[in-house]
Amino acid sequence: MIRQNMKKIVLGLSLLVGAGLLSGCGGEKKAEDGATKEMLKVGIVQLVEHESLDAANKGFVDGMAAKGFKENVNVIYDRQNAQADQSNLQNIAQRFVSTKMDLICAIATPAAQTMANATKEIPIVGTAITDYEAAKLVASSLEPKGNITGTTDMNPLQEQVELILKIVPTTKAIGVIYTSSEVNSQLQVDILKKILQEKNIEVIEATVSTVNDIQQAAQSLVGKVDAIYAPTDNIIASAMPNLASIAEPAKIPVFCGAGAMVKAGGVATVGIDYYKLGVQTGEMAARILAGEAQPATMPIEAQKEMQTIINLETIKRLGISIPEDILKAAK
Ligand code: TRP
Repeated sequence: MIRQNMKKIVLGLSLLVGAGLLSGCGGEKKAEDGATKEMLKVGIVQLVEHESLDAANKGFVDGMAAKGFKENVNVIYDRQNAQADQSNLQNIAQRFVSTKMDLICAIATPAAQTMANATKEIPIVGTAITDYEAAKLVASSLEPKGNITGTTDMNPLQEQVELILKIVPTTKAIGVIYTSSEVNSQLQVDILKKILQEKNIEVIEATVSTVNDIQQAAQSLVGKVDAIYAPTDNIIASAMPNLASIAEPAKIPVFCGAGAMVKAGGVATVGIDYYKLGVQTGEMAARILAGEAQPATMPIEAQKEMQTIINLETIKRLGISIPEDILKAAK
């Protein structure tokens, strides 16, 4: 298997793969033949409960199973949710390190950052992470160089802007609401600003530090913008109803980075399927556990399939009309 794989990966990687076997990353822990007696231990840490992240979590376990690593057959999961709390993340990281996990799956940027600080040895596979380079998790997305790899959920901002302009063609100003300390959001806002600048659309920023700031931040946009954009920001996502409670009475449509946010009170998005992203991540983890690959040389992967998602109830309450072609294509 290793030999086949080296052919695939092409030149230059053989040394690294060899080093992985020496350091006991588990070349012998193959699942396919069921001969492994030893149970592998995999820790899954999710930043907070919400639909996108839950779906990625489930996908991860299914992706692992599809590649022969089945729960309670040859792998045991330690599932942890940090409830959006940094000190919980620290405790979970300590627990995973002291119980010597064979691999860690980290869901959302802050979770991966805390795990990365806690161990340089245990392989970490991330998912639902906007950008590994911006979050300083890898040397580069093509060649991570450390113990971290995974899948990105970077959203297609260009397509999302086009969707906004199709639904609200008269847009002159867009408000963007996000958490200033989340690098994942900051990066999306930077990209959004570039796209909108080219289109001569004004961007007005409203930042929050905690969930408690959302209503005030949203209020600051009322009367100034034709639409609001909310990136895949962990704090905003957990409080979409708060945002909607200001935006809706003011008749401002909220466009979102992810489908789950649309369901929670937004209007529309074009986005990835987080379950599929999770499956892809589980398959990456399986390659690592089978000793076929090493995070250091596994490029960050993305989900290419995108889907338009609209919330008919919000749209009805706002009284906006959606072009027929979008309605047809959307879920
Ligand atoms: N991409 C976010 C991160 O890197 C996590 C995330 C995924 C998210 N889906 C989301 C946040 C939906 C808010 C809403 O941390």
